[in-house]
Amino acid sequence: MSTDEIFEVWDKAMLMDPAVEILCELRTRSKQVDTPPEVKEAIDKVLTTMAMRDTYCRKMTMPDSASTRMISKETFAMPWSQLFREGKVFTEFNPFYQSGPGQGQFLQFLIRMQKATRVLEIGMFTGYVAMAMAEALPEDGVVVTCELEPYLVATAKETFRGLPCGEKIDIRQGPATDTLDALAEEGQQFHLVYLDADKEGYLGYYKKLLDNQLLAPGATLVVDNTFEFGTAYTKSNTVMDQFNIAVMQDDRVEQILLPLLDGVSLIRRKGE
Ligand SMILES: C[S@@+](CC[C@H](N)C(=O)[O-])C[C@H]1O[C@@H](n2cnc3c(N)ncnc32)[C@H](O)[C@@H]1O
Repeated sequence: MSTDEIFEVWDKAMLMDPAVEILCELRTRSKQVDTPPEVKEAIDKVLTTMAMRDTYCRKMTMPDSASTRMISKETFAMPWSQLFREGKVFTEFNPFYQSGPGQGQFLQFLIRMQKATRVLEIGMFTGYVAMAMAEALPEDGVVVTCELEPYLVATAKETFRGLPCGEKIDIRQGPATDTLDALAEEGQQFHLVYLDADKEGYLGYYKKLLDNQLLAPGATLVVDNTFEFGTAYTKSNTVMDQFNIAVMQDDRVEQILLPLLDGVSLIRRKGE
């Protein structure tokens, strides 16, 4: 791998991993002071080896579908700052709001293992994962996905309309809290839920999913960003640390936190 390729990989990883950020700072400082060449080489080697591991994982994972690749590409091409300046979206998004490489395939794998037919996503963005999950469902399967931003909902509806599996996706616009209440009123239950919205809302969504039976017995809740860019384990009492502790203390569930990207928790409701 060339140095440019390595730093392309780390550009994104640095947003998520405080250890990589420290190493990159060390690399910059080692160029300014009188650092022995073998130390500089060792720093580069650590970063290169870590980048190679990430690239290898991507290479040895089944590829994305044409539809999800297209959604991902369009997400990178969208003029996010302009949309924000023009008031079309209320948050200044960037393409990295999109779920990370391999995450679509990971969820597809879980859906098939779980033999899920009803899936819920909290936080759709441009629809990368919603589409990946729809692709893993049987013909009569459904993905209900929640999104706050009307512009993202309108754009995703347009995108899904032209794609195979698009008709399996039911988008609910509005604050996820209201949507979860409405789904509970409708008596809906889900076999797999993917939680990937505003982090401050996680605990509230979790309680609604468990208390209102939206998460069926034996179903799996997949929660993204449970490292919260590393702050969950480098600082105490952060929003995500509090969420992770609350889940650990809830005897209705069993859980595992995987060191995948920014931390992914698998939480299974006991029963069945
Ligand atoms: C990290 S992105 C989701 C990425 C998406 N799961 C994917 O596959 O690419 C988080 C999304 O949650 C949405 N969101 C934030 N707060 C919300 C809320 N209170 N209710 C519903 N959606 C919300 C944001 O607008 C944003 O699109």
